Amino acid sequence: TFLVTEEFTIRRLKEDDFHKEYKPLLEDLTIAGDLNETIFKEIFDYHAEHNDMFFNIVIEENATGLVVGNGMLVTKPDIKRNGKKLGFIEDIVVRKRLQGKGLGKKIIDTLLSIAREQRCYKVILDCGDNNEGFYNKCGFHFNAYEMSIYF
Ligand code: ACO
Repeated sequence: TFLVTEEFTIRRLKEDDFHKEYKPLLEDLTIAGDLNETIFKEIFDYHAEHNDMFFNIVIEENATGLVVGNGMLVTKPDIKRNGKKLGFIEDIVVRKRLQGKGLGKKIIDTLLSIAREQRCYKVILDCGDNNEGFYNKCGFHFNAYEMSIYF
């Protein structure tokens, strides 16, 4: 557990979080597609087997027990930097009704402290230009264009 306040708990994703409105939360981010309990469990187990590489954190709302925020840090040791790691941040989302209260920034701050502990030398992410201001407030700056190919 990374942080506990009266209202919220920040902790790693747990196996039973699927039942705490996890899919609707991801739908606030993008299309959660066919996510069901079996797929959730498969991916959860894969991440758990590589738990020094994948850090999926969530915010639980204490009053309801629901998962209301999510964030993911993926780390990769870099052969050019004496094994220091490159970190990627993905899947940042806060339930609409709770946006604007500092929870998004708490998710990022938590992921960045994990990245420091994991000896990351930098952390990168992709975002739309509508979120540039949010990431600037979290300490990020524009660095490069994203190139992508979808299959
Ligand atoms: N543009 C500019 N500034 C913003 C924005 C924005 N879109 N969103 C928040 N801020 C500012 C806030 O005003 C606040 O400023 P302050 O410290 O001066 O008061 C600061 O950033 C921190 O804001 P939070 O309250 O912590 O942000 P929130 O909890 O609302 O979470 C988030 C922000 C995660 C982007 C949320 O709006 C959300 O879930 N959006 C939908 C999903 C999404 O777009 N996720 C990001 C995808 S990119 C990726 O995952 C790498």
